Amino acid sequence: MSYKIGFIGAGNMGGCLITAATQTTMSKDICVFDKDAEKANYYSENYDVVSASLDEVLEAQIIVMGVKPQVYQILIDSIKDKICNREDDFLVVSMAAGVSMDSICEMFGKRIPLIRIMPNMACDTNEGVMVYDSNELVSHTTESEFVKIFSNVGLLDKLDENLIDAACAVTGCGPAFVYMFIEAMADGVVACGLPREKAIAYSAQMMKGAAAKTLEGEHPEKLKDKVCSPGGSTIAGVISLENAGFRGAVNSAVTSAYQRNKDLGKKNID
Ligand SMILES: NC(=O)c1ccc[n+]([C@@H]2O[C@H](COP(=O)([O-])OP(=O)(O)OC[C@H]3O[C@@H](n4cnc5c(N)ncnc54)[C@H](OP(=O)(O)O)[C@@H]3O)[C@@H](O)[C@H]2O)c1
Repeated sequence: MSYKIGFIGAGNMGGCLITAATQTTMSKDICVFDKDAEKANYYSENYDVVSASLDEVLEAQIIVMGVKPQVYQILIDSIKDKICNREDDFLVVSMAAGVSMDSICEMFGKRIPLIRIMPNMACDTNEGVMVYDSNELVSHTTESEFVKIFSNVGLLDKLDENLIDAACAVTGCGPAFVYMFIEAMADGVVACGLPREKAIAYSAQMMKGAAAKTLEGEHPEKLKDKVCSPGGSTIAGVISLENAGFRGAVNSAVTSAYQRNKDLGKKNID
């Protein structure tokens, strides 16, 4: 039996995407192989997907490679004969940070139908972001199938591959920056007397609401101005953030993450 989608690697991100796929696709159509059988078994026990052999995964219509970029060459060397001999309408999906579609095809020694994705850790909660691009060999039918399977991740957006590393500096790395912000705000309000648990819950919920308002389409600057009453407490806090170099610090967190992404991508394929 050939599966609709097969995952190689059920670690942090592979697992997150298996969970996302179960929201749109029958679990019997999803299979997973991990060299650590316990990880694959976790998803078969908790999400009813099929824990399969590597050979079975390689027969799936869509094969998702969910391993670290450092072991890409080893994985590809072990699967390339099977993949390169396929003549049906199949697709390989890569989620490796910083590794281009051209370099993956080079590792296979052949141009194969490929989609490169950059998901983030919220993709299993319907609040994630996944950007993707496809190469010239991906058929319209298979790309539509891919879009259908991952339609529940949150924001699923096709983006030119040249911009994927830039997007990742916000979508992939950004959650860590946001956690720091939530924690820092919670610290501040704990200093003002709030219990820690409530401080974190209020801070996170406030962020979620502020983000939801921004997604309705109004520019963040306008939204900010709306909550800054003349002579009020919010503008006092805004000025304090400006004096501490808040915007510059955030800008350079994102550009440093982008640069590191580029460097790592180069290192992993050298
Ligand atoms: N984590 C993120 O937030 C994130 C975000 C965007 C993209 N990504 C990308 O997602 C990919 C996976 O990252 P991750 O954080 O999920 O890594 P991870 O947690 O280490 O998961 C990778 C899994 O694949 C297994 N594995 C390694 N080689 C294998 C092979 N040849 N056959 C079958 N299974 C194999 C690993 O087993 P062992 O542990 O035993 O080696 C591990 O269980 C990476 O390419 C990364 O760049 C991650």
